[in-house]
Amino acid sequence: MDRRIRPRLGVNVDHVATIRQARGSRYPDPVAAAVLAENAGADQITVHLRGDRRHIQDRDVRILRETVKTRLNLEMAATNEMLEIALATKPHLVTLVPENRMERTTEGGLDVAGKQEELTVYVEKLKTCGAHVSMFIDPDKAQIDASKATGAEYIELHTGDFCADRENFSSVDEFEKTIERELHKLSQGAEHAHDIGLRVAAGHGLTYENVAPVAAIPWIEEFNIGHSIVAHAVLVGFERAVVEMIQALERGRLHW
Ligand code: PXP
Repeated sequence: MDRRIRPRLGVNVDHVATIRQARGSRYPDPVAAAVLAENAGADQITVHLRGDRRHIQDRDVRILRETVKTRLNLEMAATNEMLEIALATKPHLVTLVPENRMERTTEGGLDVAGKQEELTVYVEKLKTCGAHVSMFIDPDKAQIDASKATGAEYIELHTGDFCADRENFSSVDEFEKTIERELHKLSQGAEHAHDIGLRVAAGHGLTYENVAPVAAIPWIEEFNIGHSIVAHAVLVGFERAVVEMIQALERGRLHW
């Protein structure tokens, strides 16, 4: 394995749409964010079209399909409604995720082992549009084997437990042991998946601070990261945004 070759970065632009939807405005546009992400070197644009449409909208997906130059990864629940949308959109990759209306974000991986038969039929239908299919699962051998059996070519390992918050542990020791155990599970899961011929991605909850040890796992070829990038962009762009508003005020005064 050549260590100089970095894993691919899929930039998830859902939370650009979250800011837009908070006001029901037309900005900021996740499509514009996708263009900037690709200009900066992103290898893929990822969006989650949720059943409740809380951030990304159908129109965003249609426009992204036309404008993304790299790869479009459409995350969605395995429902009939989403199947129709995926077949019409023909994204590069479809990642099947569990969805629960009340959750703040995707909690836990998809139970592929528990729904293997119906997911096998679903994957077969999805593949007719030429999309690759990925299963967003916990780093668990039974889930990995079941994903392979459905005909999916990829899995995305849920890194949420590895990204646990120190605040939720009673001691640093307990926190560190958990992180180490979760990292081991991700590494073992990725190696097993790779050994049985699956391609491996990972994501959820990854930040600038915690991504390095997961990026070191050589069998993971792709990372999908969103919230931390959008959150960081808000801060690193803040000064410039304020300066530009001051300039807009000044221009207004000059006209008067
Ligand atoms: N991968 C999948 C399958 C997801 O559902 C999400 C969240 O939408 C992500 C990656 C990105 O997670 P985060 O926004 O925490 O980086």
